[in-house]
Amino acid sequence: MEKLNIGIILGSTREGRLSPQVGEWVQRIANERGDANYQIVDIADYKLPLLGEADATAQATAWNTKLAELDGFVFIVQEYNHSISASLKNALDYAREAWNNKAAGIVSYGSVGGARAAEHLRGILGELSVADVRVHPALSLFTDFENGATFKPADLHLVNLNGMLDQVLAWSGALKTLRA
Ligand SMILES: Cc1cc2nc3c(=O)[nH]c(=O)nc-3n(C[C@H](O)[C@H](O)[C@H](O)COP(=O)(O)O)c2cc1C
Repeated sequence: MEKLNIGIILGSTREGRLSPQVGEWVQRIANERGDANYQIVDIADYKLPLLGEADATAQATAWNTKLAELDGFVFIVQEYNHSISASLKNALDYAREAWNNKAAGIVSYGSVGGARAAEHLRGILGELSVADVRVHPALSLFTDFENGATFKPADLHLVNLNGMLDQVLAWSGALKTLRA
């Protein structure tokens, strides 16, 4: 059977962001499993203006084309004022069908593991018909990032990361048959 394509979506775009380190960790562990094609999808690369503010046909097309190639997602989510970043919300709003009937897992970080942002994201994913899985690695800005800057995840997160990926793959495969 053909391998599934899973996008690891970096939710933050600010200069100096931590999300690339977290995304690379997810991709490294995922690639060691070798059970799907895992790729980092960086919202920053798509230069999406705020939805409706400018003519962004080219950017929107590129973004939707990338999402359409993917069977499932792992969202790298950071907590901004108890919710997801504006850049991630904007990127979510830029597509509809390309999200529909796919699965997603969440890896979040913040002072309390990014839990409040992750729960907000789950509500949004429901509206986009994305099936979000239960297992959720929640990383602490205090204990999983040295000096708040260098990502050094505690070993215990590996169990949840692999559990989350197991669920994303199972549901991504199942939902692919629905889209066929
Ligand atoms: C505008 C802003 C609001 C924030 N609000 C929260 C918050 O409500 N809860 C929290 O745990 N961290 C909060 N933080 C800390 C961020 O989670 C932290 O800076 C994180 O590294 C942001 O992700 P990034 O580095 O990938 O951009 C906030 C940071 C910013 C810049």
